[in-house]
Parts: sequence; C-alpha cells; structure tokens
Amino acid sequence: MKLLSSQPIGIFDSGVGGLTVAHAIRQLLPQESIIYFGDTAHLPYGDKSAKSIIYYSRKIAGFLMEKKCKTILVACNTASAVAFNDLKNFFSEQVQLVNVIDPVTEYIGKSNYKKIGVIGTKGTINSGAYEKVLKSNNPELDVISMATPLFVPMIEEGFIYDDISNAIIRAYLSDKSMKSVETLILGCTHYPIIKNQITKFFNFNIDVIDSGKIIAEFVKNLLTENNLLNTGKSQKDQFYISDFTLFFEKIAKMFFEETIDLKKIDFWN
Ligand code: DGL
Repeated sequence: MKLLSSQPIGIFDSGVGGLTVAHAIRQLLPQESIIYFGDTAHLPYGDKSAKSIIYYSRKIAGFLMEKKCKTILVACNTASAVAFNDLKNFFSEQVQLVNVIDPVTEYIGKSNYKKIGVIGTKGTINSGAYEKVLKSNNPELDVISMATPLFVPMIEEGFIYDDISNAIIRAYLSDKSMKSVETLILGCTHYPIIKNQITKFFNFNIDVIDSGKIIAEFVKNLLTENNLLNTGKSQKDQFYISDFTLFFEKIAKMFFEETIDLKKIDFWN
C-alpha cells in the first residue's frame, strides 16, 4: 500500500504512559498529526496474559489503520515485548510499525555502560525482552531487571510528587541489586512521569533513561528514510480512550498545552 507523508502517526498504550512518547513526537516533529489511543478499559497491561495483550493490540492497530495512519507506534513496553511480532505478521505490509524497545537498546549499544538497570511491568520484565537484545548486542553487559508493578496504578491514580510515590519508589529501588547501576532504563512509558523522583532517589548520580526523545528521533529517521516526513501543516491531534478517566484528560492537557479532543470509543464488543 502506498503511504503518504500527510497521513497521521498512530500511537497507542494502555493509558497515559504513551503520552510521554506522543509528547516527544509532538516536540520533535511539530508538522506530524497524531492519533492517540489509550486503552484505559483494559489497563494495566503489565499483568495481563500475552494472549490478551496480543488481542487488544491487534484491535487497536486495526482501528489506527482505519484512521489511515502511516505509522503505528506501539508506545507501550509491555505490548512491544509481547505483541509486536504478531502485529508485524498482520500489518507490516500496510503500515510502518515501531516499538519502544528497539530505539532504546540501539541507543545503549552505542554507549559505554557496563551495568544497566531495567525497570518495567511484570509482562515486560518476565518477557526478558530488554535483556535479550542488550546481551545479544554485548554479552559482557550486566543487566539487572526488576518488575515495579505498583508504579502504573500509582501514576494512573495521580500519585506523582508525594509521600506515597516516594515510599513506593524507595521500596523497589533500594533493593541491593540496584546498587552501582550506571544507568536505569525506564522500561515502561508511564515511568517518565516520575523520572524526577527516581533521579532524586539515586541522588542524581545515575543516568535515568527516559525513552521518549530517543524514540522520537528513531521515528524521525524512519520517516525521513522512507520519504514520509510531513512537510505540510499538521491536523489537530486526536485522543481516544476506551474508558473515561479524568486523569487522562488532565495529563493529556498538561502535556500538549492545548485543549484536547478526547473521545471515548468502544470497539471491543
Ligand atoms: N505504559 C505501558 C508500558 O510501557 C503499560 C503499563 C501497563 O498498562 O501496565 O509497559
């Protein structure tokens, strides 16, 4: 199928997390139009079975295809880890597909880090997705992976800069396995929302990798290589959710600094 540069970029996640990636795209590529889908009805993805996440991802990708997206960016590490291959089998001939793991592992591959921490949902960590790619690029790397499943509900409930979030961050990250990591990959797109608190927990001594910018650069290169970078005017971004949440609306407005066109859509039945 012939793709056009004027077509939008479709981005999806289980909830607000993918907005951190959408925001980075908005900053780097102001001429692109974004169609965002947050599957708030099925959130969190992190503790769902691979079968469920594959089912949700396929449906959402189908919806973004109907919206005529030229690129579908899976802005969820859990879906990138467990459903990306399935999406490739189904859609790769019709649309450009991007996940959020490849850009970051490629970025790490160019660095000199020896001991790397990765935190994410149970789904992402149990899949071993980061560890596999990082170690296949450099078998010498010491990769410490940890599931931090309370972070997503905590963030979705709006506990961001307070005693509750600080206590939960401390409870996970004070584990001795995390001592002396040189960098920490935020392997869940929700986590950049608490990046400052995590950096502070490590006394600003380590590099905390928020993948948004790295992914946006990756998408820019891909669009450029395929002659799909929009040079015209962007259309208004569209935001869809599968269940209404006030926090989604608030945080989307905060990120995009404009009134957002938030629609609830239910295509599950
Ligand atoms: N933000 C997602 C991720 O990157 C999903 C979190 C969840 O729904 O559990 O993994």
